[in-house]
Amino acid sequence: MIRSVITGFGHAFPKRVVTNQELEKTVDTNDAWIVQRTGIKQRHIAGEGETSASLGEAAGRKAMERAGVTADDLDMIIVATTTPDNTFPSTAVNIQNRLGMKHGAAFDLQAVCSGFIFALTSADMYLRSGQAKRILVIGAETMSKLIDWEDRTTCVLFGDGAGAVVLEAQEGRGLTSDRGILSAHLRSDGSHKDKLFVDGGPSTTQTVGHLRMQGREVFKHAVGMITDVIEDAFAATQMDAESIDWFIPHQANKRIIDASAKKLNIDPSKVVINVDQTGNTSAASIPIALSQTAESGRIEEGQTILLEAMGGGFTWGAVLLRW
Ligand code: ACO
Repeated sequence: MIRSVITGFGHAFPKRVVTNQELEKTVDTNDAWIVQRTGIKQRHIAGEGETSASLGEAAGRKAMERAGVTADDLDMIIVATTTPDNTFPSTAVNIQNRLGMKHGAAFDLQAVCSGFIFALTSADMYLRSGQAKRILVIGAETMSKLIDWEDRTTCVLFGDGAGAVVLEAQEGRGLTSDRGILSAHLRSDGSHKDKLFVDGGPSTTQTVGHLRMQGREVFKHAVGMITDVIEDAFAATQMDAESIDWFIPHQANKRIIDASAKKLNIDPSKVVINVDQTGNTSAASIPIALSQTAESGRIEEGQTILLEAMGGGFTWGAVLLRW
């Protein structure tokens, strides 16, 4: 059977780093509050000319270089983003054009912070159905453009960046010892819309709008939803916390990550956390954390990786794969 294997990875950040101390000068907040509640110490913020497409392109190029492929070798580009350069055309066709790719198909996918999990799962389906052989999957965000910089309850939480992987169809034996994506699980529940949303859009206000969040409500649901969908991934593969080598969760908040890992009995040494350096980069957070961990040489071929995310909608999901 066909397995979707990650053959390249990359990430990119805007140049400017904004620390909590810098935010103290513009909003009524303080480093101690932010660190204690979220674990975040700094975030990258896009400047002039740095957009979701430019960051996504940079991450994508690194992933392609590592995979040893050019745009000619790709069949498809899927970009998970909530902060597209334009309402249309998609950021994916923008990146396709920047890469000089004139064949195949490119499209955006919108599932907010779960976007990369949804995009990776979609790419897996295209590869396994034989519709594509090699797909560039990108998570690219400039969340700083959706933030109300006067709202201290949200502006301290988010950051900008992009991460990417090249996903390739390879022959597997249909066993959990295969390399590649072993199991993927997606969920959503639109009844939670008002807990985390953007108060604008082309069809309603004709403005981009700002991110609004009932932080406590999101927190209350996050751990249960994350752990439920991971239990599904464990059941589908007959694996458990013991069989996981790396847990790479969406980086929204260190407290949510710690609580989820604890509830699942995942050893803290296996949990990847970079939210202190990046803030919440929405759909970009998982591919950035994955790329940084792989780049550091810590992930060995054959190891198992559990990815999970939860975000606006609510949307949530998990992907279990073997490196
Ligand atoms: N600095 C200082 N004080 C603040 C700040 C700030 N930046 N923000 C809020 N406060 C104050 C509040 O005004 C409140 O003051 P009050 O008691 O005088 O009214 C107090 O701190 C406590 O506020 P809460 O909102 O109750 O604080 P809480 O402990 O719930 O922490 C937080 C807030 C960090 C947002 C938390 O609820 C959380 O992490 N929620 C999950 C949010 C999240 O992860 N969202 C993203 C996931 S989905 C996605 O990725 C898109």
